[in-house]
Amino acid sequence: MTTSPRRYHITTFGCQMNKADSERMAGILEDMGFAFSEDPNDADLILYNTCTIRDNAEHKVYSYLGRQAKRKHSQPDLTLIVAGCVAQQEGEALLRRVPELDLVMGPQHANRLQDLLEQVFEGNQVVATEPVHIMEDITKPRRDSKVTAWVNVIYGCNERCTYCVVPNVRGVEQSRTPEAIRAEIEEIAAQGYKEVTLLGQNIDAYGRDLPGVTPEGRHLHTLTDLLYYVHDVPGIERIRFATSHPRYFTERLIKACAELPKVCEHFHIPFQSGDNDILKAMARGYTQEKYRRIIDTIRQYMPDASISADAIVGFPGETEAQFENTLKLTEDIGFDLLNTAAYSPRPGTPAALWDNQLSEEVKADRLQRLNHLVSIKASDRSQRYQNRIEEVLVEDQNPKDPTQVMGRTRGNRLTFFTGNINALKGKIVKIKITEVRAFSLTGEAINL
Ligand code: SAH
Ligand code: SF4
Ligand code: F3S
Repeated sequence: MTTSPRRYHITTFGCQMNKADSERMAGILEDMGFAFSEDPNDADLILYNTCTIRDNAEHKVYSYLGRQAKRKHSQPDLTLIVAGCVAQQEGEALLRRVPELDLVMGPQHANRLQDLLEQVFEGNQVVATEPVHIMEDITKPRRDSKVTAWVNVIYGCNERCTYCVVPNVRGVEQSRTPEAIRAEIEEIAAQGYKEVTLLGQNIDAYGRDLPGVTPEGRHLHTLTDLLYYVHDVPGIERIRFATSHPRYFTERLIKACAELPKVCEHFHIPFQSGDNDILKAMARGYTQEKYRRIIDTIRQYMPDASISADAIVGFPGETEAQFENTLKLTEDIGFDLLNTAAYSPRPGTPAALWDNQLSEEVKADRLQRLNHLVSIKASDRSQRYQNRIEEVLVEDQNPKDPTQVMGRTRGNRLTFFTGNINALKGKIVKIKITEVRAFSLTGEAINL
């Protein structure tokens, strides 16, 4: 009999959706009496929350998992769990590949972790990947930050972009009710959090699956309505949302963002490609002209707004000229940040089966050229901050320099300045920017 509490470790791969799921699963484990262990080698229960968006993301999981599976031979009471998108994609096959696993659970089952673990502790090997209606979360997440919090508003994705596994692994769109979302934000505010980020794969599709239409035939519940509905929660000072899909991004939403003081002027709207034929082959449902119009409209209402996006290079059949259209769009828009990736063929997606795949060399070359342009443009965009006064919400100490704290501007630029974290954590401080770099800033607090 051991008297020390059982310990758990979670490693999270992938996007913010996975990070939010991990925080909820950590909350469930702590409710069950487990204590957190930073080092997986000290843990009695290890959970890998996995990502399969690209091949390399998936490979990382297998190498981590291999090491712990070996450990299980000398420590048979070790509980090994694979959650998230690889679990959903592979299901039973994962058990054949790694027979040491106790539990394989898809993302829709995150809130059911306790239930599933009870079956494991009864001696079963469990696979939970069937589509389910996601239960309203009744657990308390163990959130990593004490200042900023994620709030899921819509799960899943109803798009069918021809390169993407997300609809296969995350299922169809399921919006939470505005009441449940507001209740969670009120609770977060009561715990002292200052910023919330509303989360969804296509957050601007929020509410399409909820009942009700307005007399004009519009959905009763949209992201715009949700922003108005949650905006006045006392204590919350900043609201962000991600990820936006160009297809659903409306002028009404842009107006709301400009009008609502807590909504930060930062928009993450992936464009994927700057070429209309590639966009069509991707089944994205918009043209590069439409994308440019959205950004123009945002800048009309909020001239200083930060714009970030995702782009893929080397999609099947992409010609040099088509790739140059992506460079052109990147050049013209001037992103504050662009997440770039070489196209990775994913099992179960249409584009993976096409016979016009490009070589790894071509993809790597294009990726490198695009990244080069991105850092030049991001540096240009940073220049506008020089000598400006920015509001920074302090999140943490600078891990590289304990005399400094760090936080974000409304536009989401990471900013460092000299200060004491104990005094400043969770505070919004006016900072004069003295140094600018492509993706971060340094400044000095004024009238502290
Ligand atoms: N729902 C969001 C993106 C979710 S996935 C949207 O539609 O924009 C996050 C990013 O991963 C995508 O924006 C895309 O740029 C990238 N991605 C998805 N599938 C990919 C693949 N097969 N190869 C390379 N990048 C991919
Ligand atoms: Fe994937 Fe497209 Fe859905 Fe985004 S919108 S998650 S890229 S299928
Ligand atoms: Fe990855 Fe799943 Fe997110 S595949 S990017 S963790 S939705």
